[in-house]
Amino acid sequence: METVVSGIRSTGKLHLGNYYGAVSNFVKMQNEYNCFFFIADYHSLTTHPTPANLHGNIKQVLVEYLAAGLDPEKTTLYIQSDVPEIAELYLYMNMNAYLGELERSTSFKDKVRSNPDNVNAGLLTYPVLMAADILIHHATKVPVGKDQEQHLEMTRTFGNRFNNLYQTEYFKEPFAFNYSNDLIKIPGLDGKGKMGKSEGEMNAVYLSDSPEIIRKKVMKAVTDAGPTQENQVKPQEVQNLFDLMKVVSSADTLVHFDELYNKCQIRYGDFKKQLAEDMIIATQPIREKIEDISKNTVLLRQVAKHGAIKARESASKTIKEVREIIGFKAF
Ligand code: TYM
Repeated sequence: METVVSGIRSTGKLHLGNYYGAVSNFVKMQNEYNCFFFIADYHSLTTHPTPANLHGNIKQVLVEYLAAGLDPEKTTLYIQSDVPEIAELYLYMNMNAYLGELERSTSFKDKVRSNPDNVNAGLLTYPVLMAADILIHHATKVPVGKDQEQHLEMTRTFGNRFNNLYQTEYFKEPFAFNYSNDLIKIPGLDGKGKMGKSEGEMNAVYLSDSPEIIRKKVMKAVTDAGPTQENQVKPQEVQNLFDLMKVVSSADTLVHFDELYNKCQIRYGDFKKQLAEDMIIATQPIREKIEDISKNTVLLRQVAKHGAIKARESASKTIKEVREIIGFKAF
């Protein structure tokens, strides 16, 4: 059975981008593969969270993983920092990662641009830690959104370099995965880029948002003045809302509004109302569970403990083998 690894940083509540780009695939994959899903708390240290914030955010992701349908009996569900073997593999992998390629990574360049005062080494070597996460369990499939594609390419590069250096075929090549074949990018509501946690509270719809908040956010989403000619190409901000409708609404609804747009008969108010209601329906089963699960400290503690044991079993086997390959052997 193929092995699957993926994770989400502990930086706050999960939004529709995290759900459709990653978590919805996790939930399906747990029935078909040997899955390892984790909370990337080491990764979230690049922005220096306070201990209280870090702890709260780790819990938030764990709660939302369970609310979305991840089953700790079917998958290995763990917190990254409970598996120190990952940090050890990260150290070894750093020897196969070169400054130039790390500096050229798109996500690193974005971070430098958006926060020039905090360009730390953890940010630079973020793709190396991600490679360690994936290679530690010998994953071949990694369910992620489009923004992670380059990181997967780098993971393959680092793994192959290790293999070449030690003349081995030890690490397999992992590939980004989504059930719909193409990796997806869920747009935000601001009419510009992707939905993200750092793009402002109104840009993202969170799984935990109440129906009132979802309605408010969607009604405020950016649009233009409306089409003036039949079959006109949609401007980016309108296309974004259609892309969101494609993931949360039925095919019939999408076709209906597409036709109205093409005939210049669309009323954005009605269109947005429908989009908001479909988002509310899509997130409802998850939203309803979030509150209950978050009160169940006994369950959360038990899931994290059980997951850490299973993940360490797999990771410590890899570390033992890697140490031998490198030449760390007992006298
Ligand atoms: P993070 O927390 O930024 O994102 C978690 C997952 O959500 C996906 N995602 C999106 N997908 C589609 N549209 C969007 N607007 C959108 N926003 C976020 C991301 O692609 C990702 O799949 N580096 C990873 C965390 C990580 C990881 C790993 C993933 C650390 N180690 C090993 C896989 C394997 C990240 O960006 O997390």
